[in-house]
Amino acid sequence: MSTFRTVSHLPDHLNETVTLRGWIRAIRSSGKIRFVEFRDGTGTCQCTVEAIHPEAFAALEHCGQETSLALTGSVREEPRSPGGVEVSVEKVSIYQVAEEYPISRKEHGIDFLMQHRHLWLRSPRQEAILRVRHRIITAAREFFDLDGFTLIDTPIFQPGAAEGAGTLFDVDYFGSPAYLAQTGQLYLETAAMALGKVYCFGPTFRAEKSKTRRHLTEFWMIEPEVAFYELEDLEVLSENFLSHIVQAVLKHNRADLESLGRDISVLEKIQAPFPRVSYSEAVELLHDPDLHAKLESELADEKDRCQGLQKEISEKEAQLAQVSKAWKVEKLKKEIQELQDQVKELERWIANQPAHIEDAKSFEWGSDFGGDEETILSKQFESPLIVTEYPKEIKAFYMKENPADPRTVRNLDVLAPEGYGEIIGGSQREDDLEKLLVRMEAEGMDIEPYQWYLDLRRYGSVPHGGFGLGIERTVSWICGLKHIRETIPFPRLMGRMQP
Ligand code: 4AD
Ligand code: MG
Repeated sequence: MSTFRTVSHLPDHLNETVTLRGWIRAIRSSGKIRFVEFRDGTGTCQCTVEAIHPEAFAALEHCGQETSLALTGSVREEPRSPGGVEVSVEKVSIYQVAEEYPISRKEHGIDFLMQHRHLWLRSPRQEAILRVRHRIITAAREFFDLDGFTLIDTPIFQPGAAEGAGTLFDVDYFGSPAYLAQTGQLYLETAAMALGKVYCFGPTFRAEKSKTRRHLTEFWMIEPEVAFYELEDLEVLSENFLSHIVQAVLKHNRADLESLGRDISVLEKIQAPFPRVSYSEAVELLHDPDLHAKLESELADEKDRCQGLQKEISEKEAQLAQVSKAWKVEKLKKEIQELQDQVKELERWIANQPAHIEDAKSFEWGSDFGGDEETILSKQFESPLIVTEYPKEIKAFYMKENPADPRTVRNLDVLAPEGYGEIIGGSQREDDLEKLLVRMEAEGMDIEPYQWYLDLRRYGSVPHGGFGLGIERTVSWICGLKHIRETIPFPRLMGRMQP
């Protein structure tokens, strides 16, 4: 028996005999040779089985996609093969001949794929996204670990709201009401008073009745909290943090980004410092006639692009009528489908954009930015944009009132470029007991359940602050995905709990 190896290590074992364990991604036969596209979670490689090894050749006779097996053979250099190597197989040992696999190479609708999420994870695209997700989480934790932060685990069952009562999931806690954590922040603040620099990382829950490409009901958030940090310190922390994450992905996951079709040059520009605007300046930007002209001309360009795509579809349809070879028909049909999807999406965007431009023009100081305003703002910059000092009324009770303009708070949102919108939200915290009490009363909050939180303002209160980064929105942006549902292994969305 030769040694077990993984696909990722094959280039180190040229001309050796190895055994691989994994699954068949695709198999085809051509006369006396079978070609197996083999995968094992570390990569994909082509394996050939020739009829001169009759047992091995016969063993694959009835094996289809996702059959699990071990293959033994010698590793050859093969520049045309993905990964640059190929395995000439002499021995095949089957774990299980898979039943007919529901996910094939043909296009499947998103509902079908979501229902088969447990199997969909095996596709190259989902593998790549999960690896990038892993890297983002590792790099995020590494950033804080290297900078003297202590990890603090905050509770998931909580007695009250931190981010507004409207998005709480309630649970029956032995007959008393309790809620799933919207954030670890309030607890983390207490730990910052003990340890100085702390962070938490865990699942958070929002009963958001939003069916958008940015909202999950269960998502993962990493939150730093630092004693003596003020807003300006948080701005610097957030830009260094995000730059570190992007650099780590570029360093370790370039191949994954390429396989996702991500424009890597855009990510290479992400370097601290990031531009900063206040909320009020952002509102001025939305009202700027130059911006409106730019948006109108972008709209005209996209209309042209849409027409170009439609022309391409007609041309391919004409070709389709001429070809007869089955594989060519398949290929053309697939290309047409992809173009039609692009057109559909573009048409939706074109139909909505005039209203978005109008919304920008009539945006009133004091309203919250919706996804559309964030998209317009973040598209104006090549790097993430730090927006600070939002109106107090639209922000959480714990945010520190801005002494320079008490209508606003000392908070920051970081908007990812290319229209991805908010990925970080945070603030300096109200450290003045009286001010905090006034604010909580104005919000109609019951003070009693928060006495422990108020104690921080009684026993050695200091300026402090922090923020939260949503892992899934970050994955979405870095991978260049259209929807958040592919950023987490098993997405929980309004209207989806299965599988
Ligand atoms: O802006 P948010 O609500 O801030 C907080 O929870 C603060 N307590 C964090 C802090 O200061 N420690 O959420 C922070 C981030 C958002 O910027 C976004 O990336 C993500 O969490 N997020 C969501 N991601 C997916 N689905 C949702 N429904 C999300 N809501 C927030
Ligand atoms: Mg926010």
